[in-house]
Amino acid sequence: MAESLPDSGRSGGQQSAGAALADLQDSHIIAAYARWAPFYDRFFGAFTASTCRITLAEMNRLPPSRVLEVGVGTGISLPRYDRKHRIVGIDLSRDMLDRGRKRVAEEKLDNVEALIEMDAENLSFDAGSFDAAMAMFVMSVVPDPDRVLSEIARVVRPGGHVILVNHFSAEKGPRAWVERWMSRFSARLGWRPEFPIEQVLGRPELKLVGRRPAKAFDLFTLLVFERI
Ligand SMILES: C[S@@+](CC[C@H](N)C(=O)[O-])C[C@H]1O[C@@H](n2cnc3c(N)ncnc32)[C@H](O)[C@@H]1O
Repeated sequence: MAESLPDSGRSGGQQSAGAALADLQDSHIIAAYARWAPFYDRFFGAFTASTCRITLAEMNRLPPSRVLEVGVGTGISLPRYDRKHRIVGIDLSRDMLDRGRKRVAEEKLDNVEALIEMDAENLSFDAGSFDAAMAMFVMSVVPDPDRVLSEIARVVRPGGHVILVNHFSAEKGPRAWVERWMSRFSARLGWRPEFPIEQVLGRPELKLVGRRPAKAFDLFTLLVFERI
């Protein structure tokens, strides 16, 4: 990682980082991603390709691992995993997962164990069943990010790793104004333009070991945690 920072600022749920987060519900997400699914790869995938490459390079530095990808969507990341890793992907949206399953079949990605329709807020896996977990552009989308992070930490074994990449909102300046204005459309967009980084920092069981900008005009940040 280019930059390492000490852990700071416990996330205490949706109200923890100053202003309350915009309300998002599962029904908003499912409806939004049913609309997005047919265009997602062409539109969002092109915009995020360099971030995806950087994130998977980080993942591929880990030793052979059983990896949980939370909010795997259409499976854009899947071909970029080193074949030494075995992947389980979960997502709330059946429309997105259908495209991911097609990709796995067409590209013969035999290191993908399963793509499962599941809510990240209630993972049906035993504690410590993964060596690593990854959530790319997901934390600002889920209704309750604190609950999702707690579930991710539960299913990753101590000593394992959690990689998050996301857009986090600016604290001031024109970008902060635009994000604040856009946040009124969160339910329709299916994500929160205003999402402070403190929402994902400071959990006692997740030690921050790396942090750096991850391309797309520095809109995205890559965070690496070690599970304590
Ligand atoms: C912006 S997309 C990112 C997809 C993929 N990670 C990528 O980088 O292309 C966010 C994904 O998170 C999924 N998602 C949102 N809330 C979720 C939840 N509670 N449980 C599981 N998946 C969820 C959405 O259905 C969507 O596929």
